[in-house]
Amino acid sequence: MTTNRTRPEPGAVERAAVIGAGTIGASWAALFLSKGLTVAVSDPDPAAEEAVRAAIAKAWPALERLGLAPGADPEAWSFHTDPRDAARGARFVQENAPERDDVKRALYTALEEVLDDEVVVASSTSGLIMSELQRGRRAPGRFVVGHPFNPPHLIPLVEVVGGRDTTAETIEWLTAFYRAVGKRPIRLNREVPGHLANRLQAALWREAVHAVATGLASVEDVDTAIAEGPGLRWAIMGPNMIFNLAGGAGGMPHFLDHIGPAMEGWWRDLGAPALTPEVRDQLTQGMEEALRSRSNAELARERDQLLMALIETLQQERERIRAGHDHS
Ligand SMILES: NC(=O)c1ccc[n+]([C@@H]2O[C@H](COP(=O)([O-])OP(=O)(O)OC[C@H]3O[C@@H](n4cnc5c(N)ncnc54)[C@H](O)[C@@H]3O)[C@@H](O)[C@H]2O)c1
Repeated sequence: MTTNRTRPEPGAVERAAVIGAGTIGASWAALFLSKGLTVAVSDPDPAAEEAVRAAIAKAWPALERLGLAPGADPEAWSFHTDPRDAARGARFVQENAPERDDVKRALYTALEEVLDDEVVVASSTSGLIMSELQRGRRAPGRFVVGHPFNPPHLIPLVEVVGGRDTTAETIEWLTAFYRAVGKRPIRLNREVPGHLANRLQAALWREAVHAVATGLASVEDVDTAIAEGPGLRWAIMGPNMIFNLAGGAGGMPHFLDHIGPAMEGWWRDLGAPALTPEVRDQLTQGMEEALRSRSNAELARERDQLLMALIETLQQERERIRAGHDHS
């Protein structure tokens, strides 16, 4: 299909298609439903329909707590094994197929058969390069990466990055669309492996592994050093703003003068570990000690419960702070 209708206003999308309905696709579907959209879900595995139903039911109470759009309906979705049936008539597509170049390319060929050329197709890909995926497409400009953090229905961040042929309008539109469904999109100005947030995680974890590998601290203490320390602040503001505030009234310039030289010294001393069999053993053994016979299932429940409480508290307190500013 090539008809070129105009793009809907980003906040006026009524029907989205979620293609590939595993962990990430099912979570996107739940989020879009909570924002009042109708969602057409597709997955070649017929068993995915039940899994999506279960994922939506599990996510809904949290989405209710965070605020449903008027008319949001957890039943307003359909399931299709053929992606073309899901994409027909959709005004936005979020693609969450397995992380394989050939699979995603074949899927885009099928989608092109039924999608109007102006409909934006965002890929959740964690590591594939959009410039490659969009090459040779009929309307390459509408393909773009919209990389969420798991689970997309709860974690606000989504990274938007275009490939060589993605148009500026597509990036603009997708950013506005994600904002309209309550996400906090950021834009990357070029394609890099791992996008941005995973690179930041990788940088920190590199030093965490180095600390364990060199016997500086136990696995458990390394985790405490983040979770009970800077991690608490990072959930509120990023590392740049935190250091700006660390500069007191002098802000970032004072911080750079005061702490910058020491920081450069630490950078020069940071480790570059490899995941050798010995290091893997140290991490595995250290984790067994940190677990203290608690199960992963128990800890995952605790993580999800606390994550929900944190997101809800931050949302409510930010609203209260904003309301205070409005009245002052
Ligand atoms: N899991 C994460 O933490 C995470 C985070 C961000 C982004 N992502 C990205 O999201 C995408 C999906 O990852 P996931 O973790 O949900 O994987 P998953 O394995 O849970 O789900 C993939 C789904 O795609 C289906 N599928 C198989 N072949 C397909 C095809 N030809 N067309 C459409 N669907 C097909 C599978 O049946 C499965 O249900 C990947 O690109 C991944 O990089 C994953």
